[in-house]
Amino acid sequence: MIVVTGASGNVGRPLVEALALAGEKVTAVSRSPLRYDLPEGARHVRADLADPATLGPALDGADALFVLPAGELLGGSAPAVEVPAAAEEAGVRRVVLLSSQINGTRPEAASHVRLREFEEAVRSSGLDWTILRPGGFASNAYAWSETVRTRRTVIAPFADVALPVVDPADIAEVAAVALRGEGHSGRTYELTGPAAVTPREQAAALSEAIGEEVGYVELTREQAREHMARFMPEPVIEGTLDILGEPLPAEQRVSPDVEKVLGRPAGTFAGWARRNVHAFK
Ligand SMILES: NC(=O)c1ccc[n+]([C@@H]2O[C@H](COP(=O)([O-])OP(=O)(O)OC[C@H]3O[C@@H](n4cnc5c(N)ncnc54)[C@H](OP(=O)(O)O)[C@@H]3O)[C@@H](O)[C@H]2O)c1
Repeated sequence: MIVVTGASGNVGRPLVEALALAGEKVTAVSRSPLRYDLPEGARHVRADLADPATLGPALDGADALFVLPAGELLGGSAPAVEVPAAAEEAGVRRVVLLSSQINGTRPEAASHVRLREFEEAVRSSGLDWTILRPGGFASNAYAWSETVRTRRTVIAPFADVALPVVDPADIAEVAAVALRGEGHSGRTYELTGPAAVTPREQAAALSEAIGEEVGYVELTREQAREHMARFMPEPVIEGTLDILGEPLPAEQRVSPDVEKVLGRPAGTFAGWARRNVHAFK
């Protein structure tokens, strides 16, 4: 049995579906109820990674665990080692951690100190571990869905700065391979899309998917910071703006890892936009 935390999110949902499709028994873990129908072979357990004691019923009988640190967990102070320790105690053998590309490209970034603690915790555990370090997700474009729906406009900074955004479904497929198969233990994979695309090009891809013109209003860095302050902690805002506005060459580079693991090229932003067009119509 494989346990998937963050099962209600952009990576967790396709991961639950991919594992079940492959015939695995899956426990989908989230704090909130799931807003999709679980596939056959999957069950839902409510638990919170921020309180590893709640993971007990989910981990009972598990062989492998997908750890997705998110939300308050990234701002909190509960020792990261508690999660792999709970897994080991329950007899889990293998863990796959969703981290971030930034831990490779900006190892000192204040915004990612907690994710670095999680990386260290799984590396120093007795589990077989794999770390996934994705770049920016294609699904971050959901933040534009309301203004695209109501005004056919994307309102965002850094219109012409290109990044190789990755489809969360590809992250999920790589995670499924690492959770199920041999040969991925002790590996750290950097996951990107197949080409760097600018936000303006992403708006054009949405326009193509919808079949109607989508305009672009470019925010200044200061305007973007004000907007993000409504839902993000300060150090995370600055770190995010640095990457979106002034990416390092290593953050604009396409990584070969999705193709190496999956044996096919990574999906494009345009493909993600076509599959998710309902959110923008
Ligand atoms: N977005 C990006 O560009 C990007 C880039 C690199 C790395 N990442 C990493 O990927 C993670 C997810 O990305 P996302 O932004 O796309 O998020 P998301 O899909 O919206 O997922 C967040 C998920 O985490 C769960 N969650 C939140 N707090 C939790 C907790 N304390 N215990 C258990 N589950 C919790 C939520 O489910 P419930 O609330 O239902 O539990 C939700 O399903 C981020 O946290 C980040 O570490 C993201």
